[in-house]
Amino acid sequence: MLSATASAMRFGARRISPRVVSTLIAPKPKVSLGQSINFAQARCLSSTNQLSYAVNTNPNPPLGIKNASNTTPSRIGLIGARGYTGQALIDLLNEHPMMDLRYVSSRELKGQELKGYTKRKIIYESLSPEEVAQLDKDGKVDCWVMALPNGVCQPFVDALGQSSSLIIDLSADYRFEENGPWSYGLCELKPRSKLAQSNRISCPGCYSTGSQLALAPILEHLGGSPQVFGVSGYSGAGTKPSPKNDVNNLKDNLLPYSLTGHIHEREISHHLGAPTAFMPHVASWFRGIHLTVSIPLNKEMTSREIRQIYQERYAGEKLVKVVGEAPYVVVKAIQDKHHVEIGGFAVDSTGKRVVVCATIDNLNKGAATQCLQNMNLALGYDEYQGIPI
Ligand SMILES: NC(=O)c1ccc[n+]([C@@H]2O[C@H](COP(=O)([O-])OP(=O)(O)OC[C@H]3O[C@@H](n4cnc5c(N)ncnc54)[C@H](OP(=O)(O)O)[C@@H]3O)[C@@H](O)[C@H]2O)c1
Repeated sequence: MLSATASAMRFGARRISPRVVSTLIAPKPKVSLGQSINFAQARCLSSTNQLSYAVNTNPNPPLGIKNASNTTPSRIGLIGARGYTGQALIDLLNEHPMMDLRYVSSRELKGQELKGYTKRKIIYESLSPEEVAQLDKDGKVDCWVMALPNGVCQPFVDALGQSSSLIIDLSADYRFEENGPWSYGLCELKPRSKLAQSNRISCPGCYSTGSQLALAPILEHLGGSPQVFGVSGYSGAGTKPSPKNDVNNLKDNLLPYSLTGHIHEREISHHLGAPTAFMPHVASWFRGIHLTVSIPLNKEMTSREIRQIYQERYAGEKLVKVVGEAPYVVVKAIQDKHHVEIGGFAVDSTGKRVVVCATIDNLNKGAATQCLQNMNLALGYDEYQGIPI
């Protein structure tokens, strides 16, 4: 756990003014979600008063510009910069007015110039945990992003020790550690005020981001375990060669894998507090995930009622879009986009099972965009700054 002094130092030295985010979580709606106000009324309210619509129906609304207390650019170090998620993040940082990338680390690209970053000339280094810790001690970096495979990050985190710098980890290594200094960075579902004050943030997995967003609004009406059928493009398997990213193996093919016990199955179940079955597959396209989620209900519901619950829950969210029909929610429409799209809401003849579909670009909202969303929150910028919406 970081000491109070370390936190104070970070907020004092690296941020211009203290944030007042703890007061910004909206009060709970006066009546229960889904029943609070008729959706037509809500829409009407929204056209005249967008904020009160969002605040009334979304229990964790975006902090938006209220979080933008830092007027100084932040210096970023990226470890694992050669990989797919690292490269996607570099593209975003290049367009962000307040993010100043300083160090990129890759063993394979050491000595080469970073391409696609136009703000300054940067040469890839192969930084060891000790070198990272020294740069941090010398005050050269405000935020470290770890875009490393699972199981590789710990020596870097240990070397940084009690540093007050922000660390964001894209791997699964710290996703289950919510009692220590780590926060789980699913901004739409976890208290944004806590993320804004955290300096150790674990980014959710790509499948698990889409799955949790597709399930969270309906949790109180669950009548059994949901089942998630997921198909990802092969960039989800990273750059290390394997059958899951072998384009010849994937041509005209669909590859099921880890059909029980996938780490995202644990992650979804853990963070939703509801056991969820997850069955992943990989397909021949490069990026983009489709999820089909079958959800047993504890009472009869209509498709319209369910869609309304989702629309109200995500009111004001810029990175979650609730749509009506499943066929419009397709992978190629989500590629390169930064939001999650949720739709379908097909209810069976008993009225007690709904099928919801979700799509997400695994490298954007599934990784780099979500990382930047968390960086913005924790470094004191507008949560959506630099995210093309
Ligand atoms: N791909 C996705 O869709 C996605 C989505 C969400 C989260 N994630 C997670 O994000 C992390 C990165 O994923 P990715 O797809 O970008 O992986 P990747 O393409 O395989 O890249 C991994 C990076 O880590 C470096 N690396 C590998 N082993 C290392 C080691 N032992 N020590 C130091 N550096 C090492 C690699 O560069 P060098 O070998 O040149 O050093 C490379 O830059 C993973 O934990 C993944 O689970 C991925």
